[in-house]
Amino acid sequence: MDLKPQSDKSSTAYNSKEFINRVDELKRTHPRSLYPSEAWSLYRILPECKNVLDLGCGGGDMAEIVNVISKSTQYIGLDSNQNLIDIAKKSSFRGNPRFIAEDVFKYLEKKELFECVMGWAFLYAVLDPYKLLELMVKKASKYVLFDIRSAAMNEDVLDMSRSHVVYGENKGPLPIVSFRNFIDAIRGYEEQLEEVEMASYYFPFGPHVVIDKNIPEPAVISVVLKKSSTNSKTPKQAVKWHMNLPKEFWEELS
Ligand SMILES: C[S@@+](CC[C@H](N)C(=O)[O-])C[C@H]1O[C@@H](n2cnc3c(N)ncnc32)[C@H](O)[C@@H]1O
Repeated sequence: MDLKPQSDKSSTAYNSKEFINRVDELKRTHPRSLYPSEAWSLYRILPECKNVLDLGCGGGDMAEIVNVISKSTQYIGLDSNQNLIDIAKKSSFRGNPRFIAEDVFKYLEKKELFECVMGWAFLYAVLDPYKLLELMVKKASKYVLFDIRSAAMNEDVLDMSRSHVVYGENKGPLPIVSFRNFIDAIRGYEEQLEEVEMASYYFPFGPHVVIDKNIPEPAVISVVLKKSSTNSKTPKQAVKWHMNLPKEFWEELS
């Protein structure tokens, strides 16, 4: 495979040939290969959306899965890695997907809205997950879907010296958010939301992850944010929260 050098220094691990080979190996193009955090929301939310923007789409396999789940949903995948986007564009995914090679923070500043904006294994692949979340909420007109790694601890771990991924010689970010801080961040968007759903479970990291042993075991939290409809004439109702969490997280909230 012809690999061009990438310019985004913040995600060098994700620009390495080892990561590209791993994406190639995984080939997750069938719904049976979805992780529980993904399947939990995709089957019910995608059919409600005319389009979906998938951030950090890698080699674009999710395009095929979206088409199987909901033929009427137009898929748009974005990734900063030009090599992966080239692979995606050459694949014969059904449903006429679009692929964009651009840095997410630049792209999300643009005006266009999408009914659904999602990012899988993506909020824990960038250095600033809170900024990313803010932009995702702004960019979605109906739903924001994502997973995040979180632990019952007082401070976020955003520092690559305490947790990171390694592909070949290269390191990349692996932020782990404090559950309390994460909930506070979501509360900050309540004005724009109708419902918040979270389901969380423990899922061990793979061999590419290096994590400080003093960090409590992080869980995966799968999140669905339903945005309030902007043309509703009725007064804003209280946000409905539905949470299925491990005991440690409930203790953080009490
Ligand atoms: C852990 S992978 C997840 C891939 C895919 N969503 C999945 O679930 O298998 C993270 C992806 O995010 C991309 N990425 C990392 N930083 C990015 C950025 N700043 N802008 C756009 N894409 C980025 C990487 O190139 C990589 O493909």
